[in-house]
Amino acid sequence: MKTILELKGLSKFYHGVIALDKVSCSFGEGEIHALIGENGAGKSTLIKSVSGAIQFDEGSIVINGKEFTSMTPDQALDAGVAVIYQEFCLVPSMNVAENIFIGQQVGSKYLADIPQMHQKAQEIFEKLGAKIDTHAMVNTLSTAQQQLVEIAKAVSRNAKVLFMDEPSATLAMQEVQAMFGIMRTLKEQGVTIIYVSHRLDEIFEICDRVTVMRDGKYVSTSDIKDITRQQLINAMVGRQLDSACPPRNAKIGDVALEVKDLMGNGDYNIDLAVHHGEVLGIAGLVGSGRSEFAKVLYGAVPKDGGHIYVEGKEVEINSPSQAIELGIGLIPEDRKTEGILLEYPIDWNISLMILKKLSNHMVINMQAVKETVEKYFKRMRIKAPSTQNLVKSLSGGNQQKVVVAKTLAAETKIIIFDEPTRGIDVGAKQEIYQLMNELVEEGNAIIMISSDMEEVLGMSDRIVVFHEGTVAGELEKKDFSQANVMSLASGL
Ligand SMILES: Nc1ncnc2c1ncn2[C@@H]1O[C@H](COP(=O)(O)OP(=O)(O)OP(=O)(O)O)[C@@H](O)[C@H]1O
Ligand SMILES: [Mg+2]
Repeated sequence: MKTILELKGLSKFYHGVIALDKVSCSFGEGEIHALIGENGAGKSTLIKSVSGAIQFDEGSIVINGKEFTSMTPDQALDAGVAVIYQEFCLVPSMNVAENIFIGQQVGSKYLADIPQMHQKAQEIFEKLGAKIDTHAMVNTLSTAQQQLVEIAKAVSRNAKVLFMDEPSATLAMQEVQAMFGIMRTLKEQGVTIIYVSHRLDEIFEICDRVTVMRDGKYVSTSDIKDITRQQLINAMVGRQLDSACPPRNAKIGDVALEVKDLMGNGDYNIDLAVHHGEVLGIAGLVGSGRSEFAKVLYGAVPKDGGHIYVEGKEVEINSPSQAIELGIGLIPEDRKTEGILLEYPIDWNISLMILKKLSNHMVINMQAVKETVEKYFKRMRIKAPSTQNLVKSLSGGNQQKVVVAKTLAAETKIIIFDEPTRGIDVGAKQEIYQLMNELVEEGNAIIMISSDMEEVLGMSDRIVVFHEGTVAGELEKKDFSQANVMSLASGL
């Protein structure tokens, strides 16, 4: 295989943190190459260094035979490097074709040739085997379609090396499959795809080779067919770790929370109940109303009708603080905007919701707060020099862990986990599962919304599947299977 990209002793330092530590590795032409590692391992830093988004401090990058000892975004683009970040860089108020050719010349120097631009955009989508209206405004598109526009943008710039940083995290199951189709098409056209994901089943499905990083260092590169799941996990975490969902020993008791005919501002209607000692899984496609349901229960979105019962008593929930008072906690899906204050330190964020609980008539028990913060900081394996570091300096996954820690620290009795392990590495995933087990073993109730099939099947006692705002069906443990979940989710 011809090498298209080589890193030679690449290092990047932030004060006090070595984000990349003399990384040397190479990527072949026309392969799909997974880049994996725990949260904070340096994956995004590597991508940003190669694409010129940040300046690396040591080493060099060789692209298609040309060596760079520093890199600007323009140089990277010229050399054929493109990146699809999880947060897209699209202009919402412009149409698909305009977004694809933004900053590029179509037509003469003075006059953009609009029909030609749409024509070219159309050709790219055809080449990718995808359908999309090039006149549609980007803000009317789904996440999957926006991602497609990002991919088309990269193709229009003749990308030879395409980095995808956790592209599947916000996609529904069939959307991931569609994305894989497009990745295979690009690969056939000779494009190298470097794929970051925390979902190992995806790595085994789509990738040819895999490179593991740990603590900013290069660990290994292997052919997918020569390596097992367990070996990959061990390489990432540097210790033995069992990857299966851990068993639990919980007794399922009375109903903790029940909703009847619950309606929110969307068009939906939900009936369900969760018991003490139970993990109720909620599966469904993106847009099936799962997160809205969670927000209504948490008082973050007003309900339009229906009834909520906690411990058999009907309750009104008009705000998150009321929900917490009633013992209902939520780990939100969209953690960046709903869960966290980036400009504040970790300890501040974690203690946000427990201050009231750990205070006695205006006097806060600072020692108790500190201990709780430390406990969840350690359990979630948050990678930071100390709890006083600002959240914005953490890697994506570690920011997510802070949100999870914050909700858990509030120690509510009915906890809604909305995509609890999205973007979270294998080691911390195990911690979250273990914590969920302990919570239900203590008699708490958990509602777990998840698009991760292994997680839904492995962690739930019962699964309720949503479809277009209603409960399409309920599965008992003996009927758990990917096929059953999928057919209910797609309304069959
Ligand atoms: N702007 C910054 N200031 C200080 N430290 C930073 C900054 N950006 C990244 N880091 C640190 O660099 C290290 C590597 O972070 P990086 O984002 O590359 O990890 P990652 O492998 O992408 O993790 P994740 O899976 O969580 O996305 C982390 O320890 C992180 O805290
Ligand atoms: Mg990252």
